[in-house]
Amino acid sequence: MIRTICCIGAGYVGGPTMAVIADRCPNIQVTVVDLNQARIDAWNDPDLSKLPVYEPGLDVVVGRCRGRNLHFTTAVEAAIASADMVFLSVNTPTKTKGVGAGQASDLRWIEASARQVAACAQGHTIVVEKSTLPVRTAETVKVILSAAQGEVAGAGAPKTFAVLSNPEFLAEGTAIPDLENPDRVLIGGEDPASIEALASVYGHWVPQQRILRTNLWSSELSKLTANAFLAQRISSINSIAALCEATGADVQEVAHAIGADSRIGAKFLKAGPGFGGSCFQKDILNLVYLCGHYGLHDVAGYWQSVVELNSWQQHRIARLVVQRLFGTVTGKRIAVLGFAFKADTNDTREAPAIRICHDLLEEGAHLAIYDPKVPESQISSDLSSGEGSWQSVDSPAEAVAQADAVLILTEWSSFAELNWQQLAALMRKPAWLFDARSIADLVEARAAGLNVWCVGCGF
Ligand code: NAD
Ligand code: UGA
Repeated sequence: MIRTICCIGAGYVGGPTMAVIADRCPNIQVTVVDLNQARIDAWNDPDLSKLPVYEPGLDVVVGRCRGRNLHFTTAVEAAIASADMVFLSVNTPTKTKGVGAGQASDLRWIEASARQVAACAQGHTIVVEKSTLPVRTAETVKVILSAAQGEVAGAGAPKTFAVLSNPEFLAEGTAIPDLENPDRVLIGGEDPASIEALASVYGHWVPQQRILRTNLWSSELSKLTANAFLAQRISSINSIAALCEATGADVQEVAHAIGADSRIGAKFLKAGPGFGGSCFQKDILNLVYLCGHYGLHDVAGYWQSVVELNSWQQHRIARLVVQRLFGTVTGKRIAVLGFAFKADTNDTREAPAIRICHDLLEEGAHLAIYDPKVPESQISSDLSSGEGSWQSVDSPAEAVAQADAVLILTEWSSFAELNWQQLAALMRKPAWLFDARSIADLVEARAAGLNVWCVGCGF
């Protein structure tokens, strides 16, 4: 029976995942560790609005368990030593240099945390890959752990290890409901007792039929495949959005019509400024690298095209803004509403806004950026280069004052409520609304005298 869990990595996955495990399993002590002192301090902040990850409902869950059976600390070694089960939930970004740069995952943090577990574990420890990893990474983790197998640390029993893969499928913005009511939990492994030990943790709240058991490699590959399929739908609908704009079809009507086919399904058919987030691009590039590694170059090319279409969509939107503003945005003020990669998160990793703003800055635009959750310091580190200038502002009204155009890049629900009569009155005429998320009230915007473009809307 599992009594103590340690999770290495207090990020967007480690923090919320362990909070829900602690909430649902009051008999298990859960300790989340990280090397980043500031992040741990934020997780321990008495003011729950200051948690380092913004997720609706997370503050309530953390408030219920923190100090009871949920702990955040930088004391990595002690937490590993006392754990029956250790989750590896560290970052696995795309490599920026060396072999596989631009495609392969950088596994240095996984290797470092596996080595830490090898060094500090006592007795039997089940090591769970929670990070998204290239298929066959468990082989590496096993080799690192087996080098310490049988060693005795202090007065403890000899070290033994089992390795499981348990990828996470939560989406940011809906992490808490996704964790509390998952479509499925996936556990890959070789040792039936370890698989059942992890299944019994989830069994506190997830029905058994939703806990899938596979071999290690199927589990690792299923995670990459799920993200690739989801991202592929977005590139597919965005490609059709461009065709809609050229032909007079409406992408929302097309998405509704095809989504009504139960074989296709209605979800993930929302055209927009392309997918962002820390994972879709990274995981597809990882898949591309793996396919190339195994000599499957046509398969690699197929998945590569999903990423290329995504970049194309982002550059297309920036180009379109410039074209509609009489071919130049130099010195023009453009209000950018939304900077996070999707609504209900403060995360800007790979946000479409970054690439689109970069393109507009290069054209010499002045951007007034408003996002309800992204602080100026984050925007500053994301837009570190490029010509032109930008400022972070505190409201949509401040953003649009004397602007030539408004560009909506994140689907924050408050943007559906904007009063276009009032906003249009503040803008320089002729003024434009570019709605890349099809969230604004376009009828009202047109009535207020704005020229309107909406992604995937025909004439
Ligand atoms: P993150 O960058 O937010 O968090 C990772 C944390 O690990 C960081 O705080 C870092 O300081 C810490 N860390 C790294 N090495 C460490 C070590 N040796 N010891 C202690 N701490 C260490 O990343 P994330 O978004 O939580 O993603 C983690 C993994 O989960 C990635 O593989 C990602 O692909 C996957 N994933 C992410 C999401 C998501 O929505 N963000 C969803 C599913 C899966
Ligand atoms: C995604 C997956 O949905 C999760 O299952 C997975 O666990 C996670 O990646 C991960 O591995 O990190 P996330 O990136 O948090 O979750 O958010 P999504 O809701 O998938 O949105 C990703 C991007 O696609 C966003 O930029 C969003 O705006 C965009 N998107 C999504 C669309 O443009 N259209 C859609 O129909 C859906």
